[in-house]
Amino acid sequence: MTDASPTPDVAGFLLGLFGLRGRVAVVTGGASGLGAAFAKGLAQAGAHVVIADIGADLAGEVVDTIEQAGGTAEYWYVDVTDVKAVNVFADLMESNHGRLDVLVNSAGAAYRCPIEEFPEDAYDRILALNLKGTYFMSQAIGRKMLAAGTGSIINIASIGGLIAYPHSSAYLASKGGVVQTTRSFALEWADRGVRVNAIAPGLCDTPILTKALAMSGSTTTTDFIQDRQIVRRLIQPDELVGAVLFLAGDGSRKVTGHVLAVDDGYLVQ
Ligand SMILES: NC(=O)c1ccc[n+]([C@@H]2O[C@H](COP(=O)([O-])OP(=O)(O)OC[C@H]3O[C@@H](n4cnc5c(N)ncnc54)[C@H](O)[C@@H]3O)[C@@H](O)[C@H]2O)c1
Repeated sequence: MTDASPTPDVAGFLLGLFGLRGRVAVVTGGASGLGAAFAKGLAQAGAHVVIADIGADLAGEVVDTIEQAGGTAEYWYVDVTDVKAVNVFADLMESNHGRLDVLVNSAGAAYRCPIEEFPEDAYDRILALNLKGTYFMSQAIGRKMLAAGTGSIINIASIGGLIAYPHSSAYLASKGGVVQTTRSFALEWADRGVRVNAIAPGLCDTPILTKALAMSGSTTTTDFIQDRQIVRRLIQPDELVGAVLFLAGDGSRKVTGHVLAVDDGYLVQ
């Protein structure tokens, strides 16, 4: 007896949940590290990707990689701490593309220093980039999404937005702020078609980590974090792409205000 049941259309089913063909995705910080992996992953899922970053050379390489793989992408110089420039960028993207479906806020930086010595200018820089940059880019792109009645914003927070570790006080404050920013945007926009979620990555293998370690000349924080890691290796940027695709696509259409840890179980302890 032959099995007469139809072959399931796996590809069609998955495309319906996670496919992004015809959609436009903006990725801040898309020139490097996690943002570059998100840009490539979103393009691979079919989205046209717009990288907004201050790093032209690296962004150009990401655009080339996407195009060589058959996707489409473009780069714009945008300093996310400059609210006027962010608003001009959002207007331009709306008039160029006619739609803005996904925003990933991945631009960010870290600064390590004991609290009693923490410099005011470093504090202001970290808060302006990680927290204010996320807020006002989300406001600018979110206004376009609200007008269209649809959109998904994904903020890159950190396990440091949910727990504390030493010598990163401004960073932890900024990421705690990103978590609450995510929740407040999600609440205000839940009934208007715009979803706002966050990802809280554990320790990842990107330049931000190298820079942060070089800053203090010690590995105290890394030792501390790695002592607590269940899986004793850094997360690779590609390993976060599935979470971004889930939150970007229709498979998560009822998910908003959520903070999704991608941390090898770090926060479970
Ligand atoms: N790497 C980790 O371990 C880790 C863990 C948790 C969260 N995160 C977060 O992930 C995000 C990405 O970090 P990463 O690890 O990819 O670091 P990264 O240094 O590789 O990338 C940061 C990107 O932000 C861009 N950027 C910096 N200032 C900018 C500005 N003013 N305007 C626009 N772009 C700007 C940089 O040019 C760079 O491309 C950050 O928000 C970071 O806090 C990283």
